[in-house]
Amino acid sequence: IAQKDYKLWMQYDKISNAEILSKYKASVNGIVSLENSATAKISSNELEMALNAMLDSKIEVKSKIEAENSIIIGSESVLDAEIRTQLQKDLTLINEEGFIIKSILFKNKKQIVITGKKDIGVLYGVYSFLRLVQTHQPIENLNIADAPKTNIRILNHWDNLDRTVERGYAGFSLWNWQKLPDFIDHRYVDYARANASIGINGTVLTNVNANALILTPQYLEKVEALANVFRPYGIKVYLTARFSAPIEIGGLKTADPKDVSVMNWWKEKAKEIYKRIPDFGGFLVKANSEGQPGPQNYGRDHVDGANMLADAVAPFGGIVMWRAFVYSEHDANDRAKQAYAEFVPYDGKFRENVIVQVKNGAIDFQPREPFHPMFGAMPKTPLMMEFQITQEYLGFSTHLVYLPKLFQEVLESDTYQKGKNSLVAKVVDGTLDNHKLTGIAGVSNIGNDLNWTGHPFAQANWYGFGRLAWNPYLDSGVIAEEWMRATFSNDEKFINPVKEMMLKSREAVVNYMTPLGLHHIMDTGHHYGPGPWVSNLSRPEWNPVYYHKADKNGIGFDRSKKGTDAVGQYAPTVANIFDNLKTCPEKDLLWFHHVPWNYKLQNGQTLWNGLALKYQEGVDQVKEMQTTWKNVKQYVDPERFDEVEMLLNIQYKEAKWWRDACLLYFQQFSGKELPDGVEKPT
Ligand code: GCU
Repeated sequence: IAQKDYKLWMQYDKISNAEILSKYKASVNGIVSLENSATAKISSNELEMALNAMLDSKIEVKSKIEAENSIIIGSESVLDAEIRTQLQKDLTLINEEGFIIKSILFKNKKQIVITGKKDIGVLYGVYSFLRLVQTHQPIENLNIADAPKTNIRILNHWDNLDRTVERGYAGFSLWNWQKLPDFIDHRYVDYARANASIGINGTVLTNVNANALILTPQYLEKVEALANVFRPYGIKVYLTARFSAPIEIGGLKTADPKDVSVMNWWKEKAKEIYKRIPDFGGFLVKANSEGQPGPQNYGRDHVDGANMLADAVAPFGGIVMWRAFVYSEHDANDRAKQAYAEFVPYDGKFRENVIVQVKNGAIDFQPREPFHPMFGAMPKTPLMMEFQITQEYLGFSTHLVYLPKLFQEVLESDTYQKGKNSLVAKVVDGTLDNHKLTGIAGVSNIGNDLNWTGHPFAQANWYGFGRLAWNPYLDSGVIAEEWMRATFSNDEKFINPVKEMMLKSREAVVNYMTPLGLHHIMDTGHHYGPGPWVSNLSRPEWNPVYYHKADKNGIGFDRSKKGTDAVGQYAPTVANIFDNLKTCPEKDLLWFHHVPWNYKLQNGQTLWNGLALKYQEGVDQVKEMQTTWKNVKQYVDPERFDEVEMLLNIQYKEAKWWRDACLLYFQQFSGKELPDGVEKPT
């Protein structure tokens, strides 16, 4: 049933436009594969299969250049000397994972060369070339040099060993631990292929709330089997390291990072892992956060913990991704300030193979958060971005929300830490402070649902994450278009309205859940649906009332200089903008200010009326999405059409639920009627 869904953005449908088809047929006559590695085989197979499907042809893969208009694939070292000379300059433009796609003349015959420094670059080049064909771009005079701007482009699976997925809404974990290592589900290959096609080169298999058992030999042999599948696709395997593992599975009395027996235990563990998996990527660690064990249990700090693990993997080229997602009930004045306060003093103290992984915002993957103040504030420490692809706070896999729009907004935020144009993207790609170790992590939205991600449009979030990890400066609109053309249709009558729908969908969810800077008012625990009234949880900062602080005077969290001074964690230019009610962007208003109900918004509305109208706008936007979708029915296969239609119906119902619940609740504080234009709750 879900065959189309399953194929993701690699549908490779036959090109139905006769003119375009004949142009492509004229430019592609053969495939020449010069290399024999496992990765090179994947490249030639993919090219052969995809081109024959899209061009409805029977091109075969040869190992020698014969015909004109061949696509010649192979890394730099296997190219014919004359071709290599022609490409010399281009090859200086790319790094180890980059690629060149170029139309050349070789012995007076027109050819297309796809090359790179390594076979993995060639594979990325092949996918990039196929994307041109999938999106109906001209291929007559190609001259492309492209390379990833970050080193670690990685999915974080929050997958447990019992196959449940924390915050996963697309079924159970793909990893079938019970059948591994001997049974290799073909899905592992398809997973690797999908990731390689968008440049993802790492995967953390296990939940950050880690189980030490994954580090036992029984599990490591299963991890090894997965690593063997992923390797030719350029994907390294990483694991989460439970800090107390030396006690739980090592029989030690302590996990103190300064204890010699503990240090040695991790060193031996690293040796054991690398013996099985020579290219093991390293560890991702959540320590002293939300009850997880960590160095602070022993009076040590994050630096002690991270460096101890870093020393264990360093001899093998491994890294440690140490998460900065920390907050504590003992300093509950403003949770948003805690990670910065705890980590910034450690700047410059971590080992070279440690990278600190920071969520995009200071609270927790909300529909909208200002960028995390740590970005740009630790110039001597590599920081990597952690985005959440799974929609924990954004309607799970039920709501259509195109996340690259959110990712882009964060990446293009200006930290001003080194003056104007100190973009978050520049922190992440290392150019702001000259870091070599760089990365972007995305908390995966993948499970064993037939369509991988639950919502057909959630596939776009996986796709878009990969594209932005490759190049954090890409435009989310361009990415949406690529994805739609490769996944659904090239028909402009489909592309134009659906692209608009995708790009608006993020603002829609902000409007019907948390407009004007509201945040963390989802019902607690599961985080689905509204719960602004919840106030009875044991830790103050788990309660929604802590975040909106609605009262008779107004609503919002005062993080200005007069309040908790969270604004003070930003560079002065940014701090002043946020601090001043007049200059603070209205989209972040209630994040930074407690604002009176009668406050005049820029559009002349009072805050109360403006807030109510935003909720209504969100509902109206979902309604528009429903209409848009209905109108493109003829361009979509019936199964995916129905799925999306049903999901949009739920989303509409729930947008109204959000509006009514929040407005009725906040109304008891504002004491005001709903303005005209806002539907009355029924
Ligand atoms: C959120 C999420 C947890 C997760 C945590 C983390 O709080 O609700 O499930 O473990 O983030 O990122 O560590």
